[in-house]
Amino acid sequence: MSGQFSGVIDLKKMDESRQGEALVKDAPDKANGKKFYMESYGCAMNFSDSEIVASVLLDNGFSTTNEFINADLILINTCSIRENAEQRVRARLQQFSATKKQRPGTIIGVLGCMAERLKKKLLDEEKLVDIVVGPDAYRTLPDLIQEAQGGQKAVNVLLSREETYADINPVRLGGNGITAFISIMRGCDNMCTFCVVPFTRGRERSRDARSIVEEARMLFEQGYREVTLLGQNVDSYKWVHEGTEETVTFAKLMEMVAQVNTDLRIRFSTSHPKDMTDEVLHTMAKYENICNYIHLPVQSGNSRILEMMNRGYTREWYMKRIDRIREIIPDCGISTDIITGFCSEAEEEHQETVDMMKYVQYDFAYMFKYSERPNTAAERKYEDDIPEEVKSRRLQEIVDLQREHGALQNQKDVGKTFKVLIEGVSKKSEDQLYGRNDQNKVIVFPKEKYNKGDYVQVKVESCTSGTLIGKAI
Ligand code: 5AD
Ligand code: SF4
Repeated sequence: MSGQFSGVIDLKKMDESRQGEALVKDAPDKANGKKFYMESYGCAMNFSDSEIVASVLLDNGFSTTNEFINADLILINTCSIRENAEQRVRARLQQFSATKKQRPGTIIGVLGCMAERLKKKLLDEEKLVDIVVGPDAYRTLPDLIQEAQGGQKAVNVLLSREETYADINPVRLGGNGITAFISIMRGCDNMCTFCVVPFTRGRERSRDARSIVEEARMLFEQGYREVTLLGQNVDSYKWVHEGTEETVTFAKLMEMVAQVNTDLRIRFSTSHPKDMTDEVLHTMAKYENICNYIHLPVQSGNSRILEMMNRGYTREWYMKRIDRIREIIPDCGISTDIITGFCSEAEEEHQETVDMMKYVQYDFAYMFKYSERPNTAAERKYEDDIPEEVKSRRLQEIVDLQREHGALQNQKDVGKTFKVLIEGVSKKSEDQLYGRNDQNKVIVFPKEKYNKGDYVQVKVESCTSGTLIGKAI
């Protein structure tokens, strides 16, 4: 999914560092004495979903633990996007299963995309889990837990056309207290031929705009200073107010959130090249607190492959969208997702992807080898015919090129001054802080008198390939 994913930070990089992160929170008032442990894998949307699951469980008297050995309930929120994501989760489930032999009452549950995809297999054949809950069924989790406690296997993987969890207040766990995700829509209707998301997460639906603005307002009051609006394809966000019949588009929604407070930064992910409107770009340009950064997955630079992927745009269309971004928001950071070795991709077609990278000069890119996913249109219609070593070589080529581009883009920032939102103390040194500029680049600088959550002007003095290094002025 273009949404997935999962961020500097850009979402997916952040995801990398948070993969498998356990969520911990203090015990609630109406405790039932039971503890749950939860790990999340995959995209930012999955992390956001885990915060909804935690809210449901805490409301039902559970408390959290960061040791799965001590848990009565072990949950794993899973990803199906590529085969290796699933393999990782399976290995982890096997570890959990072994624990269960020592503590027989423990309940193990699989949530998210793999739950939807592999329900029968996980329950019956592999007997790894007791509960399987799909992305639209988290409200039923307390009932399913009860069933499992009674010795039954419990499953709910029904997908919904309405569920947006609009009324559930996510519990922010494991974060920095400054930046948060807000889920604005669920599912995806795009049917890119390589992607499982439309099958695992179901039809696209947009959340009530008022509940999104309210969530942003509450976060600001709690001290948060940045929200990332999440959806698989944010540009197709559309919510109609029953009564006034007013339609809220993504551009309008961004404006509403930007007006919550000028000190609340807005980011969003993921945009789709076929749907990203000039209205969105103009709204970004109009509000200083909407960050000048767009994640615009290209997937391939060749029009024939794009057509086979059912992406709904050509190479030329994509380039024109890039030109438009540069025209309306000259200093906009741009990142992308690229898949190499899609079915039948010829060497010249791969070269067009390389040329596209040279044209855009992305600030960041998430690059993947094509991984055939069961039941997708690509699996049914096309042969996965690019040899593994060719996929790997093409991937390495674009990874190396992106490293060059990233370093070059960072070099260009040396000497410039950026407004940075401080997210915390640098991992490498207590005396250094880190934050991000508008373009989503991480900047590290001496702590001096500054604190987490402050905005500060930082002058960049040097850089590494991944980080800018500067001093507050
Ligand atoms: N194989 C490889 N990469 C994939 N992605 C989605 N499905 C696949 C697949 N089957 C990538 C796309 C998407 C990102 C989140 O994951 O680039 O934008
Ligand atoms: Fe993104 Fe396409 Fe998958 Fe939808 S179908 S989640 S747009 S890659």
